[in-house]
Amino acid sequence: MTSAISSQPDAIRVTGLHKSFGSHEVLKGVSLTAKVGDVVAIIGGSGSGKSTMLRCINFLETPSGGQIEVAGEQVKMKPDGSPADRKQLERIRQSLGMVFQNFNLWTHKTVLENLIEVPVHVLKVPKDEAVARARKLLDRVGLAAKEDAYPAFMSGGQQQRAAIARALAIDPKAMLFDEPTSALDPELVGEVLQVIKGLADEGRTMILVTHEMRFARDVASHVIYLHNGVIEEEGPPEMLFGAPKSERLKQFLKTVG
Ligand SMILES: Nc1ncnc2c1ncn2[C@@H]1O[C@H](COP(=O)(O)OP(=O)(O)OP(=O)(O)O)[C@@H](O)[C@H]1O
Ligand SMILES: [Mg+2]
Repeated sequence: MTSAISSQPDAIRVTGLHKSFGSHEVLKGVSLTAKVGDVVAIIGGSGSGKSTMLRCINFLETPSGGQIEVAGEQVKMKPDGSPADRKQLERIRQSLGMVFQNFNLWTHKTVLENLIEVPVHVLKVPKDEAVARARKLLDRVGLAAKEDAYPAFMSGGQQQRAAIARALAIDPKAMLFDEPTSALDPELVGEVLQVIKGLADEGRTMILVTHEMRFARDVASHVIYLHNGVIEEEGPPEMLFGAPKSERLKQFLKTVG
């Protein structure tokens, strides 16, 4: 690694993250570091805390404890984990592009309107600039012809590609994906994975919750296996998938194929 790269702050750093819902402790002190250009994949069984971990990073869930740093800036938290500085949190949130399982596009807006909404109305980018950028992004995800379409008239794969373009439209420092292909019909999975692979190849920092093990093995620089809110094992994909140490992980990999 060159000194130019290593002198950059980590893109995302999570330290000792705890999250409880009532008396149910879902995350029991998990830590994660994504350097610029890293693709961190989070795998694990249903209910292990993957989504909660991802959602805590941009405060869609309020952590119960721990620290979160984005691009070297620590999110200011009160002792109970809630954000102490709303303005700071908004700014940091706007540097993270989130892609959900169920696309979450605005259904009453066209694809183009979905892409320019936040840049124009929140980030105050001039409209013509936002439109030009949105068109480039739509072209990139293969949806140039769909800018005037409403989400309901598009396939799941198209909607998810539009959602990825929307997340890119804010020019995020990192992308967070929560099982981006698990709501898709099998024949539509490939087109979405291809777009995500393209982003990985161009050096985008990403944290990706996925059950597509082959894909995780292919794109991730680091894999985290979560079990019951604890990191049971982590490492480079060839180690985690090729030579897992923990019995639980071995069992898990058998069940997911
Ligand atoms: N808002 C909530 N209120 C109460 N409990 C919650 C809430 N969100 C998640 N949980 C619980 O936290 C645990 C972890 O949930 P989470 O969604 O993070 O799991 P996951 O690993 O993403 O699972 P899946 O693979 O099914 O998506 C589960 O037991 C879940 O029921
Ligand atoms: Mg989940």
